[in-house]
Parts: sequence; structure tokens; C-alpha cells
Amino acid sequence: MAMKRHLLLGTITGAILGLAGCGEKTANATVSEIQTETSAQWPRIASRVARDEQLEKKVEALLARMSDAEKVGQIIQAELKQVTPQDVRDYHLGSVLNGGGSFPDNDKYARLDDWVALADEFYRASTDTADGGVAIPVIWGTDAVHGHNNVIGATLFPHNIALGAARNPQLMREIGAATAREVAATGIDWAFAPTLAVVQDDRWGRTYESFSEDPSIVASYGGPLVEGLQGDPEGEGFLGSAQVIATAKHFIADGGTRDGIDRGDVLISEEELLAIHAPGYFTALERGAQTVMASFSSWQGRKLHGHKYLLTDVLKERMGFDGFVIGDWNGHAFVDGCSVVSCPQAINAGLDMFMAAEGDWKQLYANTLRQVQDGRIPGARLDDAVRRILRVKIRAGMFDKRAPSTRPLAGDSAIVGAPEHRAIARRAVRESLVLLKNRDHLLPLARNQRVLVAGDGADNIGKQAGGWTISWQGTGNRNSDFPGATSIYRGIVDAVESAGGEAILSEDGSFATKPDVALVVFGENPYAEMQGDIPNLSYKYSERDLALLKKLRAQNIPVASLFITGRPLWVNREINASDAFAVIWQPGSEGAGVADVIFRKADGSVNYDFTGRLPFTWPQTAAPEDSGVQYAFDFGLDYDTEDLAGLLPEDSGLGERQLASELKVFEGRPMEPWSLQVTDIGNKRRSVDSSVTELEGIRVQAVDRNVQEDSRRLTWDGSGVASVGFFANRRTDLSAYLEAGGALVFDVKVDRAPSADVRLGMNCGTGCTAEQPISDLLRDSESAQWRTVSVALQCLVDGGAQLDMLLSPFYLVTDGAMDISLNSIRVASGVEADIHCG
Ligand code: BGC
Ligand code: BGC
Repeated sequence: MAMKRHLLLGTITGAILGLAGCGEKTANATVSEIQTETSAQWPRIASRVARDEQLEKKVEALLARMSDAEKVGQIIQAELKQVTPQDVRDYHLGSVLNGGGSFPDNDKYARLDDWVALADEFYRASTDTADGGVAIPVIWGTDAVHGHNNVIGATLFPHNIALGAARNPQLMREIGAATAREVAATGIDWAFAPTLAVVQDDRWGRTYESFSEDPSIVASYGGPLVEGLQGDPEGEGFLGSAQVIATAKHFIADGGTRDGIDRGDVLISEEELLAIHAPGYFTALERGAQTVMASFSSWQGRKLHGHKYLLTDVLKERMGFDGFVIGDWNGHAFVDGCSVVSCPQAINAGLDMFMAAEGDWKQLYANTLRQVQDGRIPGARLDDAVRRILRVKIRAGMFDKRAPSTRPLAGDSAIVGAPEHRAIARRAVRESLVLLKNRDHLLPLARNQRVLVAGDGADNIGKQAGGWTISWQGTGNRNSDFPGATSIYRGIVDAVESAGGEAILSEDGSFATKPDVALVVFGENPYAEMQGDIPNLSYKYSERDLALLKKLRAQNIPVASLFITGRPLWVNREINASDAFAVIWQPGSEGAGVADVIFRKADGSVNYDFTGRLPFTWPQTAAPEDSGVQYAFDFGLDYDTEDLAGLLPEDSGLGERQLASELKVFEGRPMEPWSLQVTDIGNKRRSVDSSVTELEGIRVQAVDRNVQEDSRRLTWDGSGVASVGFFANRRTDLSAYLEAGGALVFDVKVDRAPSADVRLGMNCGTGCTAEQPISDLLRDSESAQWRTVSVALQCLVDGGAQLDMLLSPFYLVTDGAMDISLNSIRVASGVEADIHCG
């Protein structure tokens, strides 16, 4: 599945850029040589938000009055759970945010007035000049990514993948405008949208945040959505009281990571970066997007948050972006040599505002101020960052808008979840449904029938809304958490009852009186970043739902499946077990849009036809390495099409998982795909390939056991946390070893026992880590003799490791001192474990 499908070199980008000749690199150019090519192949973008000399004078006047302390305050954004209005006053913070599932007073049920009141408090604090500082209104940012989705009662639009199916840029403008109004009603200034990811591997848990795998669709949507949120740069209401600041995110190639690993590494050439991942930014910037969010991901091993070439040379200098670059959720902490509380490297690379979301932002503030004073951050760079922030704030009218509660839309409960916004969302649902199968024209259905509505998605608004819905992952919500919303079932009831039909809700498909037809609504449960990554494209609840479909079919009931999903998944068996099959994505709060399409009008004519087309290629198997296509990009039936397709192949392509008696991780050298990596006490990470590597607090040396340099001696000096381990940028499935009672086995020689806790870890992605304490075991082994130790895999699974998608099968971390040597690290089955669990 790697690197698919829409390399539009020569079409879209070629047209925008005149890309002639940019592919000239010598046959033996290395990756880093490619990376140092000039930015000249990137386009110059003429933003419709033109430079305004009067405005620039205001910026300079403000800047001239600010102290370094105030300037550093401007470049920090703190999160609701960790910041008070008093902090905003004391530190002159430039911005606050509420992360996914973060609310005023930590109250999920915060009312509209609570949001506005808190916005007022922050605003008043930021403009309080009692300490002699300059009054600079704070801006509040929020993840309004499918409507104002953290707020109870808001309109929830279908997720981006669904919108991509609609192929309707004008609709994006309307959705942006409606979202902006709902955000403005809560007194919030800034939306972290649109996401312009062009996802290339659907295993990524953020695939649904992407409009399409096709850059031209993303490009056609980016501009209109920005314009909907911010307003028309040349029009009256631009960034006025009904608009909010937009964010083009996550710059760049967040959707291009190897294996779809969240926050992973993008290993493509600059030409591909441009052709696939950049076009969405061209249109968003052209329509004047005022902020750009840096991506968590890396390009060719370098984190975007520290990527001077891409942030400064390309985005700002070449493409002329004059707004500001916001970091992503502590993203600076992952830059080489940085930590959550210190990262001059990111600012120097071109980041303008830290999203200091977790950890001690006050320490980050203090460190950054010190780095300005001692010159590690040049004064000119700080001024440039602040200038950009002030420029955006002035453009957004922050100095004229006054306190949030006094703004025209603020606190107006008629706006949040307004009927006219819901109507746009319902239309978006209708336009986004994609029909994959329709045997004998089962759809559209007559209304005056007895309709069984089955499946766990039928009457479940949380499930139909997906991730980033009230909570971060979209989990933990009940229908009562969505006042004003309509479940898919409720929409069906309204459709059939209006014409004398009957809808029976029955999650498990049981019934008293035989129905004329069954609609089965099933699919993925909500998830968001990190937790949504999967090892392959198989459908998790297949066993349960396939049984339901088969049970209904066995009773001669025609079955139409309505599949809720955030990405293409392998569902050939479910499709075969259905007479009709529609992908409804994650439609959001207006579930009635589904019934609008699948039922005829009362008079028997078609109400709304299917018009959605696949924005992503649909796979023929679940196997990541298989690029077979079941339904091509752009596929989608309508009611006129005769569906003559036969049964689909039912081989998942995953095969039997191979279980060798052992899998070597290190045997004299790191085994493919892993490399030995060390992270020192200053969070510098290095791949170790020389015989001695000396970093701060830790040393790695190749030593002899049986043959020359077949082992590694690891010496921690106890001055801070440091780790050593085997990491890959692709996933490995070791789950078969668990079933076989497997263990992680290694030979160790302990020359100096640990002085503090040591943990043996496995990693399966961000937030996917398990660590098993092994200090006692190592202490008991102190003897300068080699011994073999083993830890049952079960212990790591209990700790949260997902063995079917491992990135690191073995790492050691401690803040103590110790001196050990390692040799022969492997995963084996049928061994007696020294540490066992479960
Ligand atoms: C996500 C962003 C989001 C931010 C704030 C990050 O983890 O990657 O998309 O805007 O959090 O919630
Ligand atoms: C926040 C999200 C954020 C995520 C990133 C969560 O706790 O609520 O907004 O994106 O953490 O780590």
C-alpha cells in the first residue's frame, strides 16, 4: 500500500509550478543531498491577504513597546487544564487552547455562557495593563475540525473523508462559514482546521481527517474551507465577528508517514513532497490562511518542528507566508536535543508559537527567555515571530473586537446547532454516501414497508460522529450528549412513518414479525490520533457483524449494509453477505441525511440519488503489502447503474502468521528492520553504528563475547534519564509468539548493578508503550558472568503493548547508573520465563 496512487507530477503541481527540470538529480545523489536542494522549485504564493503598510506600522509600534518577557509570552500557547486568566495576565501569554475533550472548568456539559465567560476572563487578563505592559488580546484556539466539536449541542459535520467523497468545494465554504459562526458564538477566535493531509497509507488513525489520497481534491477544498472560516479576504466581513482564524495543518506530509505510523517519518523525495503533500497548502495560503500548524512527523528523519528548510526557507521565504507557525501539542519536545521545557531549536527553525500543552509551560517560558537573553535565540528571530503573531491579531480585528461577550454572535444560543447549519450538514451527509453494491436495485427503498434497523451503529450518535467529538477520541458519549442531533435510525423512522411504514430498532437483528427489508448499520468505533493506528486493513468487528448479516439473509430478508468507517477497510465478506452496501463514513450529527438517500419519496420517485465517489482507493485485501484494488478511486454507483458485479474474493491476504521458533532482534548486530538507537539525557537521539558512541549520560561500545564485537556494552552514568533500544520505522507483527507462550530473551552480563529502577520496554507507536521493571533481575545477575534472562511477552501485553504492530521490541531505560553488556536478543516461543505475568 506504500506510496500509492496519485502522483500528479506534471498535472496539478506542474500547472501551478512549471515544474520543468526539477527532477534532475544525479543517479547517486543521497537523501541528504536531495534535501538540500534549493527551495526554488516551490511556488511563490500570492496571498489574497495583501501586505498593508499601515498595519505593519501598528505592528512595529507595539513591538517597540514590548519587553523581552512580554515577547516570549506572546510565543507561548498554554492549554485550558493548565492555565488561568491570572497566568495570562502575569506572563502576557499570546494564546490559549482547549485540546480535544477539554472544557471550561473541566465540565463536559459546560454551557455556552461558560465558554464565553471564560473567554472574557482570558481576554480581560490579556488587556490588563496594570503591570505597565502592553495590552495585546489573547487568542483562543480550538479543534473545530468537523464543526465546533468540543461543544455540546454543536452541529457536527461529516468528517473530512466523507466530504472528500462529495467532490463539492462550494460546500466546504458553507461548512467553514457555519463552523466559524458556532465557534464565534462561544467567544473563541481560532480554529485548528483545515487538515490538509493527503493520506497515503490508510492504516493511519487520522485517515478520516483527510479529504482524499488525491492531492487535487485536497487542493480544491483547502482554499474554500479557509475562506469559509476566515471570510473572503477581499470582502467586507473578512475575519469579522462571524469569522475565525483558520489553520492549515499539519505542515507538511503528515499523511505520508511510512506505514501510516502516527507522527512517523516521511521517506520521500522533495518532488513527491511537492506533488503529493503540498497542493492543499497552495490554495489555503492563497486564500489567506493566517496560521500553519507544524506536523509532528519527520521528513527524512528530521522533525518538522525543527525543520528550518521547510518552515523558513520554503513556507515563509519562498511561499511568502506572513502569518505565524503554531506548533502541535508539545511537538517541539521531539526535536533532537529538545525537551518539553526547552527548545530554542524549534524557534530558530521557524516555529513562531509553542503549543505548550502539557508539562510545565512556565519553565518553557523561563528557559526561552533565558535563551533570548543569552543569544541562543537571536533577538531578530524573536521579533519576527512576535511580529507575525501581532500581524495576525490585528488582521483578525482583535484590537477592535473588544471582550468576547460583547461581540455580535457571542452567547447566542440560536447559533450553536442552528437549523440552517444542521441543514448544511445533512446535505453534506447526502452528498458523501458512496454506494458500492446494489443488487437488483434493492435501493432506493419504498417508505411504506416494515424496515428492521439493526447493527450497533443504528442508534448511536457517538459512533456515527467518530473521533474528535466532545472527547478527544470520540469515546464515552451517549445519545443524550447530542441535543438536537439525529441518529441514523431516527432519520429512518421519520422517513418511513411519514408514509405509513414502520421502523423496528433491533441491534442484534431479532424480530417478532418478519420485516420486508433490513438495514444494518455497523462499522468502526470512534478513535483519533495515536489510538487509531492499525496494523492492517481488516475490519475489527467482522465476526459479529458478518454473523448478523448472514442470519438475516438466511431468513430471506433483503439486507442493505450501511458501513460507518473512517477509512477504507477490507470488508469483502460483508459486501458478499449484503444485497446492497453503502459506505456512510462518519456522518456526524445529522443522521437523517442517510434516509434522505436510501428511501424513495412517498410517491415512489427517487428522493436523492447517490452522488458520492470514493476519495480513497478501496483495497482488495487487508494485507498492507498488497496493492490490489477492489473499488477504484472515484468509484460509486448511482440508482441508474445496473450492478452486475459478482461475488468478491474472500481471501484477506493476511495468510497464516508465520511462527519461527525464534526471531532475532540483535545477533552480533541489529537485525532488519531494527537499528540500535540511544537517547541521551538531553533527549538527543542517535543511531549507533560506530564502535563507540559517547553521549550525555550514556555510552555504547561494541565489545567481544564469542567473536569480535558481537556484543554491546552499555554504561549509564546516572546523571539523568537515558535509553537504548532497537527501533524501526516500520511495524512488525510478533503476536503469534504470544499465543505460543513466548518471551523476550536476552543474554546479559552485569558489571555494575543498577542504582535505580530499570525498565524493559516495547513500543508500538506514540502512546503505545509497555514497560516491565527488571531492576531486581539485573541486580541478581551482577557477577560479570553472562547469563540468559527472559521476560514473558504476556507482561508487556498486560502493560499495553500491541504485539501486532511493534516499532521497538526491546529498549532499556533508567535514570540510574549501571554497566551491562548485551548479546543475542530475541523473541522466542516455549521458553521458561524468569519474569511471567497473566
Ligand atoms: C493534534 C492537532 C490538534 C492539537 C490540539 C494535536 O495532538 O495533532 O491536530 O490541533 O492536538 O488539540
Ligand atoms: C488532548 C488532545 C491532544 C492530545 C495529544 C489530548 O489529551 O486532549 O487535544 O491532541 O492529547 O497528545
